[in-house]
Amino acid sequence: MKLIDGKLISQQIKAEIAEEVKAMVAEGKRAPHLAVIIVGHDGGSETYVASKVKSCHEVGFQSTKLAFEDTITEAELLAEIEKLNANPELDGFIVQLPLPKHISEQKVIEAIDFRKDVDGFHPVNVGRLSIGLPCYISATPNGIMELLKRYEIPTQGKHCVVIGRSNIVGKPVASLMMQKAIPGDATVTVCHSRTKNLKEITLQADIIIAALGSPEFLTANMVKEGAVIIDVGTTRVPSTETKSGFRLKGDVKFDEVAPKCSYITPVPGGVGPMTIVSLLKNTLLAAKGEIYG
Ligand code: GUN
Repeated sequence: MKLIDGKLISQQIKAEIAEEVKAMVAEGKRAPHLAVIIVGHDGGSETYVASKVKSCHEVGFQSTKLAFEDTITEAELLAEIEKLNANPELDGFIVQLPLPKHISEQKVIEAIDFRKDVDGFHPVNVGRLSIGLPCYISATPNGIMELLKRYEIPTQGKHCVVIGRSNIVGKPVASLMMQKAIPGDATVTVCHSRTKNLKEITLQADIIIAALGSPEFLTANMVKEGAVIIDVGTTRVPSTETKSGFRLKGDVKFDEVAPKCSYITPVPGGVGPMTIVSLLKNTLLAAKGEIYG
């Protein structure tokens, strides 16, 4: 069994990005600039946003954090998005989800100019992804593909079972795994909460991507000997062992599944650290005008 070390790979990619930024600045160009909007005080969101801002600084990006109270109206938030869309000094921006109930996430996502949508959530980017056109690919699926690539894990002709059909992970990762590309070119089955005989299906999988958000859902009796396991779960559970009072739990029962696998991602330290570098990569692509000019 080989552990897929997302922390190590993410550090390597950050170093690569920092080198590129240094070269850009040496040529007299402005450093890439990412803005992050956060609404309210969700603990998980505040942690993620702080990490995104810190990572920007580590690679030499400029970053702007716009924090609003959850009393902001939908119209006011949409007006803020318009300002960012029109700001030529900004390469890309994201609105951290979830949003308070009185604001439509879909309206917010569609209000972002798709050319600045470095989260890859806008329907234009999602549509382009599904037909294999250049686009901003959302962070988690892109991070998973990068891990498969850097570990040279064969995917062509393999049976990949995705558990979960979210717009952020399940659907886009299924799209990428079936695309005619390496990594990709797999036979993909998407399972979800209404799937019958889930275990029969996962037992056929060469690669399982568990992205359902249910701690320790995938057990050893659901996994074929030698399978590759990608654990996307990041459920926060109370813990007395950490400073924050929380720890992250994956969707895979790691201790019993790991001995059966060829490769497995741990939680934390697997897919998680890759998501932020995917966002940084999209921002760099935006600054270089590589997707939409
Ligand atoms: N909430 C959880 N993951 C994400 C993400 O990748 N982007 C945004 N904007 N919000 C999130």
